[in-house]
Amino acid sequence: MTAPVAIETHNLSKRYGSLTKGVLALDRVDLSVPSGSVFGLMGPNGAGKTTLIKVLTGVSDMTSGEARVAGFDVRRQSMEVRSRIGWVAAEVILDDDFSGWENLWLQAKLQGLRDWESRARTILAYFSLEDRRDEKVSHYSTGMRKKLEIALALLHQPSVIFMDEPTIGLDVGTRRMLWDIVRGVRQEYGVTVLLTTHYIEEADALCDRIAIIELGRIIAEGTPSELKAKVRADLVVLETTEELDRGALTALPGIQELTSQGAEWTFRVASSEQFLPQLLASVPPQRIRRISVEKPSLETVFLDLTGRRMGQEEPMRDVRKFYAQVRRARG
Ligand SMILES: Nc1ncnc2c1ncn2[C@@H]1O[C@H](COP(=O)(O)OP(=O)(O)O)[C@@H](O)[C@H]1O
Ligand SMILES: [Mg+2]
Repeated sequence: MTAPVAIETHNLSKRYGSLTKGVLALDRVDLSVPSGSVFGLMGPNGAGKTTLIKVLTGVSDMTSGEARVAGFDVRRQSMEVRSRIGWVAAEVILDDDFSGWENLWLQAKLQGLRDWESRARTILAYFSLEDRRDEKVSHYSTGMRKKLEIALALLHQPSVIFMDEPTIGLDVGTRRMLWDIVRGVRQEYGVTVLLTTHYIEEADALCDRIAIIELGRIIAEGTPSELKAKVRADLVVLETTEELDRGALTALPGIQELTSQGAEWTFRVASSEQFLPQLLASVPPQRIRRISVEKPSLETVFLDLTGRRMGQEEPMRDVRKFYAQVRRARG
């Protein structure tokens, strides 16, 4: 028997704009997300992560292919899907002038929920927000706001929650707190969580399974350790004070690949433990400026698959600050 599946896509494509000038944001995506898991969609900016969430939540139409969420067809049974999913967007959705409780009330109205109060109280207690429920959200810390956003998404008892870059712009401490919350919510509320991230360490620490997406394509999928096991190599980076003779370096045993940039040499080797002594024996110590070793990580998985590093650039350091500026600009 196979485990139940919360999200399933076949050949799912999404194109923005025309065939000739448009962007193929999702390119024949096949995904299967087990029920009750925390599933990470990891990829650089522009990879198509938000688009996938928009298509799965029914906010954007798909161009072709199929998708099922919580057991229903996204295209043909969109209302059934909508009533079973929650969405924590990357953008701030809270109303700053409202209290935490009023935000929950507003959410209940928007969703047409009845008898929501007792569930709201339980959720607030779960997030330790009940003492602050009547305070304006503008007085909340970033972590509290994020918790309230998740509380709003949980209010109508969804079975699947989408979280788009849930920790973007948060400091390291708050980010870790949020990881605990996501794990706890999955456990306590039995929901499946699909989250997107461009933080490699976040995908690694938080997710049961990860799909790596680049240019709209899923290029790898598996548990973090399955993905890392695909890379059977360490990277050794050597920086020297002057350029060395390439021939002497290539002759060293165990090298799978050698690339250089000026006086920086990157060796891809099967085992850095066996390689390092050989390297040190063949390069005069006074010429060595720096040596570093990189063990297989999700970063090297990405590098392996795409030939480039994923990078850690952030489009917006503090989303909240951005929206505050927008509000101020509006007057
Ligand atoms: N509304 C839109 N119209 C046209 N192109 C879009 C739109 N939204 C996203 N794109 C493009 O689709 C691609 C994927 O974007 P997105 O899903 O936002 O990526 P991510 O969330 O991984 O950063 C990018 O090339 C982006 O420029
Ligand atoms: Mg995005």
